[in-house]
Amino acid sequence: MEKITVALPKGRLFEQTIELFSKAGIIDKPIKPNSRKLIVENNNFRFLLVRAKDVPTYVEMGVADFGVAGDDVLLETEAEIYKPVDLGIGYCNIIVAGLPESKDKYFSNPTSLTVATKYPKITTNFFAEKGIKIQMVELYGSIELAPLVGLSEFIVDIVETGTTLRENGLVVIDEIRPSSAKLIVNRVSYKTKTDSVLPVVESLENYLLSKPTV
Ligand code: PRP
Repeated sequence: MEKITVALPKGRLFEQTIELFSKAGIIDKPIKPNSRKLIVENNNFRFLLVRAKDVPTYVEMGVADFGVAGDDVLLETEAEIYKPVDLGIGYCNIIVAGLPESKDKYFSNPTSLTVATKYPKITTNFFAEKGIKIQMVELYGSIELAPLVGLSEFIVDIVETGTTLRENGLVVIDEIRPSSAKLIVNRVSYKTKTDSVLPVVESLENYLLSKPTV
């Protein structure tokens, strides 16, 4: 069997994906990312540990056959890839948040809102569809800080447990859409490495279908 390369985001989603691959019988020994190693080998697989936003690039360029990426990341990319399977992990919501006292302005007078985000496309599309003019501040992280220091009135970000919003005194003001992790596949690998790529897709689909829903 040909070696398969999978680009995975570091962090929580890495562990959840490995658990899923293991339960679906794709890999037979669990792996943990150790130290700062960026390539982890397991059976016939080679896992690349990359930044979440970079996963679609590795897959589109063909250095990885597979990748795992959330809708939040996929909506920001124009990468030409297939996304055949919703993996049912990495659930979160893409939301608009702000200080509780900003709620009024958002609903009663939504003009020229300032919005900080690391999701510029999602933000632009969401407010354009609502016909609301915004001034966007693009950041790379710690988005919740922006309303606390007056950099913006609102943020567009993902919320998973809600802890970051709560600990910073922010509330959800509007919901954009839910997000979950998808298996993404390089288009050439899908066609030319069928013997090694299809069994992975099918094992995941079969496991997810047989898994009892909670
Ligand atoms: C993400 C997101 C929120 C947080 C939400 O940030 O941007 O800040 O997680 O999770 P919670 O609802 O469980 O608190 P991430 O951890 O990726 O770090 P970042 O701020 O560097 O982007």
